Amino acid sequence: MAATHTLVLTALIASCCPAPAAPRPHIVFVLADDFGWFDVGYHGSEIRTPNLDRLSATGVRLENYYVQPLCTPSRNQLLTGRYQIHTGMQHQIIWPCQPYCVPLDEKLLPQMMKEAGYTTHMVGKWHLGMYKKDCLPTRRGFDSYFGYLTGSEDYYSHVRCSPIAALNLSRCALDLREGEEVATGYKGIYSTEMLSQRAIGIIEKHNINKPLFLYVALQAVHAPLEVPERYMAPYSFIKDSHRRCYAGMVSAMDEAVGNITLTLQKRGLWDNTVLIFSTDNGGQTLSGGSNWPLRGRKWSLWEGRRGSTNGTKPLDGFNVWDTISKGFASPRLELLHNIDPLYVDIAPCKLMGPGRERPSTQVLSRGSWAKSGFNVSVHAAIRSSNWKLLTGYPGCDIWFPQPGHNSSSQVPPSWIH
Ligand SMILES: *[C@@H]1O[C@H](CO)[C@@H](O)[C@H](O)[C@H]1NC(C)=O
Ligand SMILES: *[C@@H]1O[C@H](CO)[C@@H](O)[C@H](O)[C@H]1NC(C)=O
Ligand SMILES: *[C@@H]1O[C@H](CO)[C@@H](O)[C@H](O)[C@H]1NC(C)=O
Ligand SMILES: *[C@@H]1O[C@H](CO)[C@@H](O)[C@H](O)[C@H]1NC(C)=O
Ligand SMILES: *[C@@H]1O[C@H](CO)[C@@H](O)[C@H](O)[C@H]1NC(C)=O
Repeated sequence: MAATHTLVLTALIASCCPAPAAPRPHIVFVLADDFGWFDVGYHGSEIRTPNLDRLSATGVRLENYYVQPLCTPSRNQLLTGRYQIHTGMQHQIIWPCQPYCVPLDEKLLPQMMKEAGYTTHMVGKWHLGMYKKDCLPTRRGFDSYFGYLTGSEDYYSHVRCSPIAALNLSRCALDLREGEEVATGYKGIYSTEMLSQRAIGIIEKHNINKPLFLYVALQAVHAPLEVPERYMAPYSFIKDSHRRCYAGMVSAMDEAVGNITLTLQKRGLWDNTVLIFSTDNGGQTLSGGSNWPLRGRKWSLWEGRRGSTNGTKPLDGFNVWDTISKGFASPRLELLHNIDPLYVDIAPCKLMGPGRERPSTQVLSRGSWAKSGFNVSVHAAIRSSNWKLLTGYPGCDIWFPQPGHNSSSQVPPSWIH
């Protein structure tokens, strides 16, 4: 198995849960951004993630688990339970000036959780649209929200700059919200610490008689590469400066997960908490991430490795709780990765660094949606049981080598097909 969007999932299952009147579990979902397969310690990375390693060792590691190859489509799937082709979210991210959001007639996960009696809080990255207030997290099921609505902002100033090509200029704005208002006063505070501190505050204040749903969508470890020096210091052995900084960012994120976990324990919630850790897509090799030995990177389709819905549209998600908690076979036999006739790969497909440049042979043309409908020139991929069908240009096809290695000297292991 190869590919970029495969992820690391750690589900921690409470050891207890007596049969009759078991209280509904608290659910804390931590979503990392652009975190790659080879960036977690237990996959053999040179980056150390002691908290993720320890938590997942006593929980469940999902090694054949898929997310979308890009931010907005992935978050759309998580919150709607539906493929991105149903919601118009399959093309790209939502850019700051684009007037659309996840369609307002989709019922989102936090709304379902509220109906089930949960207190719902969100901290971090939204990226599901913001062009009008009805699109905002607080109007889509979250009791509270603290975070940013787009992506790629500065980790300290929380400012996002966006080029407006047609006007040949760039516009910058503070992208941090408290509820629906712009949040000032956080300048200089490193995002990973700021967001985990907020999550901790929510857990500390939570009325423990109510079940908690807390969605923590961290900025880590998306570009720009920024981290306080103390997190990078242990990685002086990494020569590549991008990778070294990225490693520090991962360490800060791992510490954030450790801090959140500790707070759940101190508060007495831990034994009835399901903690899930996932990434939104594969690592971005242009910004320090690595998916070795999987193929491709963020934004490519290479192989990496239904029930009562009460008001949602038909779900594409499955109930896999028995698979996770009891080891039963997964009910899912088929998975659609994407169908996107408008796909454009915006970054050159080559290895970076001395002696590694490789001319791109791919035609990066903007697709067009002919009325003829689907044909095999369209960017699309579907997995069915042990087979995967890719059509059109699937995205960058390189197996980016393990950090510190040359591609020629590295052969992917035999479990990669
Ligand atoms: C865009 O702006 C830059 C800096 O203001 C200027 O140097 C450049 O000539 C402009 N390009 C066009 C196509 O107007
Ligand atoms: C974790 O908690 C410690 C102790 O309070 C704190 O110093 C550190 O900054 C926290 N780390 C993060 C990433 O929030
Ligand atoms: C189903 O949804 C409606 C509103 O959308 C809500 O009032 C009702 O309580 C929900 N039923 C269940 C069983 O959650
Ligand atoms: C296949 O689809 C593409 C994109 O819609 C279109 O440009 C092309 O003409 C189609 N080819 C055939 C043979 O229908
Ligand atoms: C990569 O290959 C080049 C050319 O063969 C060699 O000079 C260099 O030392 C190699 N680097 C590593 C990290 O193996």
